[in-house]
Amino acid sequence: MGIYANYAATAPALSEAVARELKEYLGGLHLNAGRNFEGLEAGAIALRARRAIGTLFGAADPLRVIFTSGATAALNMAIQGLVRPGDQVLATSVEHNAAARPLEDLRERGVIDLVWLPCAQDGSLDPGTLRRAIGKTTRLLVMTHASNVLGTLLPVGECFRIAHEAGIRTIVDLAQTGGHIPFALDETCDAAVFAGHKGLGGLAGAGGLVLGKSAAAAMRPWILGGTGSGSHSLAMPEFLPDKFEPGTQNTLGILSLAASVEELLSIGIETIRERDRSLTSRFIAGLRGLRKPRICGTGDPERSVAVVSLTIPGCDAGELARRLFDGWGIITRSGLHCSPLAHKTAGTFPGGTVRFSFGRGTTEAEIDAILEAIADL
Ligand SMILES: Cc1ncc(COP(=O)(O)O)c(C=O)c1O
Repeated sequence: MGIYANYAATAPALSEAVARELKEYLGGLHLNAGRNFEGLEAGAIALRARRAIGTLFGAADPLRVIFTSGATAALNMAIQGLVRPGDQVLATSVEHNAAARPLEDLRERGVIDLVWLPCAQDGSLDPGTLRRAIGKTTRLLVMTHASNVLGTLLPVGECFRIAHEAGIRTIVDLAQTGGHIPFALDETCDAAVFAGHKGLGGLAGAGGLVLGKSAAAAMRPWILGGTGSGSHSLAMPEFLPDKFEPGTQNTLGILSLAASVEELLSIGIETIRERDRSLTSRFIAGLRGLRKPRICGTGDPERSVAVVSLTIPGCDAGELARRLFDGWGIITRSGLHCSPLAHKTAGTFPGGTVRFSFGRGTTEAEIDAILEAIADL
């Protein structure tokens, strides 16, 4: 592979330790949790992953960690499970389609009233915008922690405080910040959604959500079915995690999360954050030395994750990405990045941007090589 600069889409490789553990598991028996005695191992793997993820995201009870196929399924589950007919829902104007589409669908079907909170062109949000938007029927706030297009961090702590004071439930999308930025659920929010295959360093097909205590009780299950528990009844069990985990789980994906999140915890999220910040600073400083690229987003590594979108006036974003790949083997992502809302906010719709995103394998030498390539374009 050339230079991989698309970590916001997915981490391109498992760490050696995680890969080793998965290989060992694949050489043994694969039984499902809760269905037979031997399946206890799968349940133990899930508990190990719940403990690591609960620690990472500040949930005191590991049973409030619920596994799904990814952040998209988890957002659908949290939104559908928490809204009630007639609710007004607030969401930001930089949400990913994983949140925006289920919300728009509920609005179109007349279930909810939906208000998009306008972010500034660089993706930042003034908490005053939220305060002014809250009305008598507002019941839910959906917010991404960071824009997957602009990298901009949103003030989730302050916004969730405002929302909770007004009796509004909160959902945060941690797809871009999980494993990169510290987050503490129990102090801040009702439901925190994570993707397993990005900053958490696990396999694709495993993700989930971490629920606050009262949200776990209030939320209705979105997918219903067999759990191997309470089988005499046609109703879903009320206890966790079974209430939200029917069907056979992705044990391999969950094991990848257990191993990778334990590894992240031993490295320390602050250490990872510091490295992200330093790589992003180097990239932004280099871009500023060039005449043509226009940085979308804050251009401030303190206020963003390691995601930088740019445009070059007069050049098509797809064409730029193709030339970077053909000429230098640089892998980026161009276009609208599943977030037309963020591009409308940034003024880059419908043309889109070229997005560079960095992660654990990124080196300073790679950042310099990318900058040289952009200068030569
Ligand atoms: C902010 C954000 N939310 C949700 C998702 C969806 O994640 P997944 O494809 O793992 O379900 C992504 C993926 O790019 C994302 O960036």
